[in-house]
Amino acid sequence: MNCRDQVVLVTGAASGIGFAVASAYAREGARVAMVDLRREAVTEAAQRIFDQDLVYPVQADVRLVEEIERALDGVGSRFGTPTILVNAAGLYPSDPVLEMSEVAWDRVLDTNLKGPFFTSQSFARRLIRQNVKGNIVNITSGAAKRARPGAAHYSASKAGLAMLTQALAIELAPFGIRVNAVSPGFVEVHSAVNQLSTRYVEAIRRTIPLGRAGAPEDIAHAVLFLTGPGSDWITGTVFRVDGGSAAGTTALPLSRVDQEEGGDNDPQAL
Ligand SMILES: NC(=O)c1ccc[n+]([C@@H]2O[C@H](COP(=O)([O-])OP(=O)(O)OC[C@H]3O[C@@H](n4cnc5c(N)ncnc54)[C@H](O)[C@@H]3O)[C@@H](O)[C@H]2O)c1
Repeated sequence: MNCRDQVVLVTGAASGIGFAVASAYAREGARVAMVDLRREAVTEAAQRIFDQDLVYPVQADVRLVEEIERALDGVGSRFGTPTILVNAAGLYPSDPVLEMSEVAWDRVLDTNLKGPFFTSQSFARRLIRQNVKGNIVNITSGAAKRARPGAAHYSASKAGLAMLTQALAIELAPFGIRVNAVSPGFVEVHSAVNQLSTRYVEAIRRTIPLGRAGAPEDIAHAVLFLTGPGSDWITGTVFRVDGGSAAGTTALPLSRVDQEEGGDNDPQAL
Protein backbone atom coordinates (compact mmCIF):
# COMPACT_ATOMS: atom_id res chain seq x y z
CA MET A 1 0.00 0.00 0.00
CA ASN A 2 1.48 3.32 -0.99
CA CYS A 3 0.63 6.07 1.49
CA ARG A 4 3.04 8.70 0.19
CA ASP A 5 0.30 11.32 -0.23
CA GLN A 6 -1.29 10.69 3.15
CA VAL A 7 -0.96 12.60 6.39
CA VAL A 8 -1.98 10.37 9.28
CA LEU A 9 -2.78 11.31 12.86
CA VAL A 10 -2.60 8.50 15.40
CA THR A 11 -3.58 9.05 19.04
CA GLY A 12 -2.04 6.91 21.74
CA ALA A 13 1.00 6.53 19.48
CA ALA A 14 3.65 6.31 22.21
CA SER A 15 2.94 2.66 22.89
CA GLY A 16 1.32 -0.61 21.88
CA ILE A 17 -1.25 -0.61 19.11
CA GLY A 18 -1.00 3.13 18.39
CA PHE A 19 2.76 2.84 17.95
CA ALA A 20 2.44 -0.17 15.64
CA VAL A 21 -0.14 1.70 13.54
CA ALA A 22 2.10 4.80 13.30
CA SER A 23 5.11 2.63 12.31
CA ALA A 24 3.10 0.77 9.68
CA TYR A 25 1.94 3.99 8.00
CA ALA A 26 5.47 5.45 8.08
CA ARG A 27 6.77 2.25 6.43
CA GLU A 28 4.27 2.86 3.63
CA GLY A 29 5.60 6.37 3.15
CA ALA A 30 2.93 8.42 4.98
CA ARG A 31 3.76 11.40 7.18
CA VAL A 32 2.54 10.55 10.64
CA ALA A 33 1.64 12.75 13.60
CA MET A 34 2.11 10.70 16.73
CA VAL A 35 -0.13 12.13 19.46
CA ASP A 36 0.07 11.01 23.07
CA LEU A 37 -0.52 12.29 26.57
CA ARG A 38 3.05 11.35 27.57
CA ARG A 39 5.52 13.83 26.07
CA GLU A 40 8.76 11.93 26.76
CA ALA A 41 7.33 8.57 25.77
CA VAL A 42 5.99 9.85 22.45
CA THR A 43 9.22 11.67 21.63
CA GLU A 44 11.17 8.49 22.34
CA ALA A 45 8.69 6.41 20.33
CA ALA A 46 9.06 8.72 17.32
CA GLN A 47 12.83 8.23 17.48
CA ARG A 48 12.28 4.49 16.98
CA ILE A 49 10.63 5.10 13.57
CA PHE A 50 13.17 4.44 10.80
CA ASP A 51 12.77 7.82 9.04
CA GLN A 52 12.58 10.85 11.34
CA ASP A 53 11.34 13.12 8.53
CA LEU A 54 8.11 11.12 8.36
CA VAL A 55 7.03 11.53 11.97
CA TYR A 56 6.01 14.34 14.27
CA PRO A 57 5.52 13.63 17.98
CA VAL A 58 2.84 15.77 19.62
CA GLN A 59 1.92 15.90 23.30
CA ALA A 60 -1.83 16.30 23.81
CA ASP A 61 -4.58 15.03 26.08
CA VAL A 62 -7.49 13.75 23.96
CA ARG A 63 -9.87 14.42 26.87
CA LEU A 64 -9.48 18.16 26.30
CA VAL A 65 -11.01 19.70 23.18
CA GLU A 66 -8.61 22.66 23.16
CA GLU A 67 -5.61 20.31 23.20
CA ILE A 68 -7.04 18.32 20.30
CA GLU A 69 -7.48 21.56 18.33
CA ARG A 70 -3.94 22.63 19.15
CA ALA A 71 -2.56 19.24 18.06
CA LEU A 72 -4.43 19.34 14.74
CA ASP A 73 -3.27 22.93 14.11
CA GLY A 74 0.34 21.89 14.78
CA VAL A 75 0.12 18.89 12.47
CA GLY A 76 -1.52 21.05 9.79
CA SER A 77 1.41 23.48 9.84
CA ARG A 78 4.01 20.72 9.86
CA PHE A 79 2.60 18.18 7.36
CA GLY A 80 -0.70 19.58 6.04
CA THR A 81 -4.24 18.56 6.99
CA PRO A 82 -4.43 14.90 8.09
CA THR A 83 -6.48 12.66 5.79
CA ILE A 84 -6.42 9.60 8.07
CA LEU A 85 -7.23 9.60 11.78
CA VAL A 86 -6.72 6.58 14.02
CA ASN A 87 -8.19 6.93 17.51
CA ALA A 88 -6.09 4.45 19.50
CA ALA A 89 -5.52 6.30 22.80
CA GLY A 90 -7.29 4.33 25.49
CA LEU A 91 -7.31 3.21 29.09
CA TYR A 92 -8.41 -0.13 30.50
CA PRO A 93 -7.95 -0.04 34.29
CA SER A 94 -9.57 -2.60 36.57
CA ASP A 95 -12.23 -1.07 38.86
CA PRO A 96 -14.96 -3.31 40.29
CA VAL A 97 -18.46 -1.79 40.16
CA LEU A 98 -18.84 -1.47 43.92
CA GLU A 99 -15.52 0.36 44.24
CA MET A 100 -15.81 2.60 41.16
CA SER A 101 -15.19 6.30 41.86
CA GLU A 102 -16.56 9.15 39.75
CA VAL A 103 -12.98 10.10 38.85
CA ALA A 104 -12.20 6.57 37.60
CA TRP A 105 -15.42 6.46 35.55
CA ASP A 106 -14.86 9.91 33.99
CA ARG A 107 -11.21 9.21 33.18
CA VAL A 108 -12.10 6.11 31.14
CA LEU A 109 -15.18 7.54 29.43
CA ASP A 110 -13.45 10.84 28.62
CA THR A 111 -10.37 9.11 27.17
CA ASN A 112 -12.08 6.28 25.30
CA LEU A 113 -15.31 7.92 24.10
CA LYS A 114 -15.28 11.73 24.41
CA GLY A 115 -11.71 11.90 23.07
CA PRO A 116 -12.42 9.98 19.84
CA PHE A 117 -15.63 11.99 19.29
CA PHE A 118 -14.07 15.44 19.48
CA THR A 119 -10.88 14.37 17.68
CA SER A 120 -13.06 13.01 14.86
CA GLN A 121 -15.18 16.18 14.82
CA SER A 122 -12.15 18.46 14.56
CA PHE A 123 -10.53 16.21 11.93
CA ALA A 124 -13.72 16.05 9.83
CA ARG A 125 -14.39 19.80 9.98
CA ARG A 126 -10.93 20.49 8.57
CA LEU A 127 -11.31 17.99 5.73
CA ILE A 128 -14.77 19.25 4.82
CA ARG A 129 -13.56 22.89 4.76
CA GLN A 130 -10.93 21.85 2.21
CA ASN A 131 -13.28 19.53 0.30
CA VAL A 132 -10.94 16.57 0.84
CA LYS A 133 -11.97 12.95 1.51
CA GLY A 134 -10.59 10.95 4.42
CA ASN A 135 -10.78 8.03 6.81
CA ILE A 136 -11.28 7.49 10.51
CA VAL A 137 -10.53 4.22 12.32
CA ASN A 138 -11.54 3.78 15.95
CA ILE A 139 -9.92 1.09 18.07
CA THR A 140 -12.77 -0.52 20.00
CA SER A 141 -12.47 -3.83 21.88
CA GLY A 142 -14.03 -7.24 22.29
CA ALA A 143 -15.05 -5.83 25.70
CA ALA A 144 -17.72 -3.80 23.87
CA LYS A 145 -19.74 -7.01 23.54
CA ARG A 146 -18.51 -9.13 26.43
CA ALA A 147 -18.47 -7.80 29.99
CA ARG A 148 -15.76 -8.85 32.37
CA PRO A 149 -15.21 -8.11 36.08
CA GLY A 150 -13.61 -4.72 36.72
CA ALA A 151 -14.34 -3.32 33.28
CA ALA A 152 -17.83 -1.77 33.47
CA HIS A 153 -16.49 1.67 32.49
CA TYR A 154 -14.24 0.17 29.79
CA SER A 155 -16.94 -2.01 28.23
CA ALA A 156 -19.44 0.86 28.26
CA SER A 157 -16.91 3.22 26.65
CA LYS A 158 -16.04 0.74 23.89
CA ALA A 159 -19.67 -0.16 23.22
CA GLY A 160 -20.28 3.59 22.92
CA LEU A 161 -17.34 3.90 20.55
CA ALA A 162 -18.69 1.10 18.35
CA MET A 163 -22.00 2.96 18.00
CA LEU A 164 -20.17 6.25 17.54
CA THR A 165 -18.37 4.61 14.61
CA GLN A 166 -21.75 3.95 12.98
CA ALA A 167 -23.14 7.39 13.80
CA LEU A 168 -20.09 9.17 12.41
CA ALA A 169 -20.09 6.92 9.34
CA ILE A 170 -23.66 7.92 8.49
CA GLU A 171 -23.19 11.66 8.98
CA LEU A 172 -19.79 11.90 7.34
CA ALA A 173 -20.48 9.64 4.34
CA PRO A 174 -21.83 12.50 2.19
CA PHE A 175 -18.43 14.19 2.56
CA GLY A 176 -16.47 11.12 1.48
CA ILE A 177 -15.19 10.44 4.97
CA ARG A 178 -15.33 6.74 5.86
CA VAL A 179 -15.45 5.71 9.51
CA ASN A 180 -14.69 2.16 10.64
CA ALA A 181 -13.48 0.40 13.75
CA VAL A 182 -11.10 -2.42 14.53
CA SER A 183 -12.06 -4.49 17.53
CA PRO A 184 -8.99 -6.23 18.94
CA GLY A 185 -9.00 -9.24 21.18
CA PHE A 186 -6.18 -9.64 23.66
CA VAL A 187 -3.04 -8.00 22.25
CA GLU A 188 0.23 -8.23 24.13
CA VAL A 189 1.62 -4.69 24.46
CA HIS A 190 3.63 -4.55 27.72
CA SER A 191 2.22 -1.10 28.42
CA ALA A 192 3.52 1.21 31.12
CA VAL A 193 0.06 2.79 31.34
CA ASN A 194 -2.32 -0.15 31.05
CA GLN A 195 -0.91 -2.84 33.28
CA LEU A 196 -2.40 -6.31 33.62
CA SER A 197 -1.79 -8.96 36.25
CA THR A 198 0.05 -12.13 35.19
CA ARG A 199 -2.93 -14.13 36.41
CA TYR A 200 -5.28 -12.24 34.08
CA VAL A 201 -2.92 -12.54 31.10
CA GLU A 202 -2.49 -16.28 31.58
CA ALA A 203 -6.25 -16.80 31.89
CA ILE A 204 -7.19 -14.75 28.83
CA ARG A 205 -4.49 -16.40 26.67
CA ARG A 206 -6.15 -19.78 27.27
CA THR A 207 -9.41 -18.52 25.75
CA ILE A 208 -8.03 -17.52 22.33
CA PRO A 209 -9.06 -20.07 19.66
CA LEU A 210 -6.02 -19.40 17.44
CA GLY A 211 -3.81 -20.16 20.41
CA ARG A 212 -1.77 -16.99 20.70
CA ALA A 213 -2.15 -13.42 21.87
CA GLY A 214 -2.35 -10.77 19.18
CA ALA A 215 0.63 -8.63 18.28
CA PRO A 216 0.13 -4.87 17.80
CA GLU A 217 1.05 -5.39 14.13
CA ASP A 218 -1.97 -7.69 13.68
CA ILE A 219 -4.16 -4.69 14.45
CA ALA A 220 -2.08 -2.31 12.32
CA HIS A 221 -2.57 -4.49 9.22
CA ALA A 222 -6.35 -4.30 9.62
CA VAL A 223 -6.26 -0.53 10.14
CA LEU A 224 -4.24 -0.04 6.97
CA PHE A 225 -6.67 -2.21 5.03
CA LEU A 226 -9.65 -0.16 6.28
CA THR A 227 -8.10 3.12 5.10
CA GLY A 228 -6.80 1.75 1.80
CA PRO A 229 -8.32 1.59 -1.69
CA GLY A 230 -9.40 -2.05 -1.26
CA SER A 231 -12.00 -0.99 1.31
CA ASP A 232 -13.46 1.91 -0.63
CA TRP A 233 -17.07 0.76 -0.12
CA ILE A 234 -16.75 -0.08 3.58
CA THR A 235 -17.96 2.34 6.20
CA GLY A 236 -19.60 1.99 9.62
CA THR A 237 -18.22 -1.49 10.20
CA VAL A 238 -16.54 -2.99 13.25
CA PHE A 239 -13.83 -5.39 12.09
CA ARG A 240 -12.90 -8.05 14.68
CA VAL A 241 -9.22 -8.96 14.83
CA ASP A 242 -9.05 -11.29 17.79
CA GLY A 243 -7.75 -14.77 16.97
CA GLY A 244 -11.36 -15.98 17.03
CA SER A 245 -12.16 -14.85 20.59
CA ALA A 246 -15.52 -13.28 19.78
CA ALA A 247 -16.60 -16.19 17.59
CA GLY A 248 -17.44 -18.38 20.57
CA THR A 249 -15.94 -20.10 23.56
CA THR A 250 -13.32 -22.84 23.78
CA ALA A 251 -13.84 -23.09 27.54
CA LEU A 252 -16.52 -25.78 27.30
CA PRO A 253 -15.95 -29.50 26.68
CA LEU A 254 -17.86 -31.39 23.99
CA SER A 255 -21.47 -31.87 25.04
CA ARG A 256 -21.74 -35.45 23.76
CA VAL A 257 -22.38 -38.08 26.38
CA ASP A 258 -19.28 -40.16 27.01
CA GLN A 259 -19.35 -43.96 26.80
CA GLU A 260 -19.06 -44.36 30.56
CA GLU A 261 -22.03 -42.03 31.17
CA GLY A 262 -23.86 -44.25 28.62
CA GLY A 263 -26.97 -46.16 29.56
CA ASP A 264 -30.23 -45.68 27.68
CA ASN A 265 -29.41 -42.08 26.82
CA ASP A 266 -26.13 -42.85 25.06
CA PRO A 267 -26.70 -41.76 21.44
CA GLN A 268 -24.02 -44.27 20.33
CA ALA A 269 -26.25 -47.03 21.66
CA LEU A 270 -29.26 -46.01 19.54
N1 LIG B 1 -3.98 -4.45 24.19
C1 LIG B 1 -5.16 -5.04 24.11
O1 LIG B 1 -5.33 -6.23 24.43
C2 LIG B 1 -6.35 -4.28 23.60
C3 LIG B 1 -7.51 -5.01 23.31
C4 LIG B 1 -8.63 -4.33 22.84
C5 LIG B 1 -8.57 -2.97 22.64
N2 LIG B 1 -7.43 -2.27 22.92
C6 LIG B 1 -7.45 -0.83 22.70
O2 LIG B 1 -6.33 -0.46 21.93
C7 LIG B 1 -5.97 0.89 22.22
C8 LIG B 1 -4.48 0.93 22.52
O3 LIG B 1 -4.23 0.19 23.69
P1 LIG B 1 -2.83 -0.54 23.97
O4 LIG B 1 -3.15 -1.87 24.47
O5 LIG B 1 -1.93 -0.38 22.80
O6 LIG B 1 -2.35 0.31 25.24
P2 LIG B 1 -1.07 1.19 25.52
O7 LIG B 1 -1.12 1.53 26.96
O8 LIG B 1 0.15 0.49 25.01
O9 LIG B 1 -1.29 2.51 24.66
C9 LIG B 1 -2.25 3.48 24.99
C10 LIG B 1 -1.62 4.85 24.79
O10 LIG B 1 -2.66 5.83 24.96
C11 LIG B 1 -2.09 6.95 25.60
N3 LIG B 1 -3.13 7.75 26.26
C12 LIG B 1 -3.85 7.42 27.36
N4 LIG B 1 -4.67 8.44 27.70
C13 LIG B 1 -4.46 9.43 26.78
C14 LIG B 1 -5.00 10.73 26.60
N5 LIG B 1 -5.93 11.21 27.45
N6 LIG B 1 -4.57 11.46 25.57
C15 LIG B 1 -3.63 10.98 24.71
N7 LIG B 1 -3.06 9.77 24.84
C16 LIG B 1 -3.48 9.01 25.87
C17 LIG B 1 -1.12 6.34 26.62
O11 LIG B 1 -0.16 7.27 27.06
C18 LIG B 1 -0.54 5.17 25.82
O12 LIG B 1 0.68 5.54 25.19
C19 LIG B 1 -6.84 1.30 23.41
O13 LIG B 1 -7.92 2.07 22.92
C20 LIG B 1 -7.32 -0.01 23.97
O14 LIG B 1 -8.55 0.12 24.64
C21 LIG B 1 -6.33 -2.90 23.41
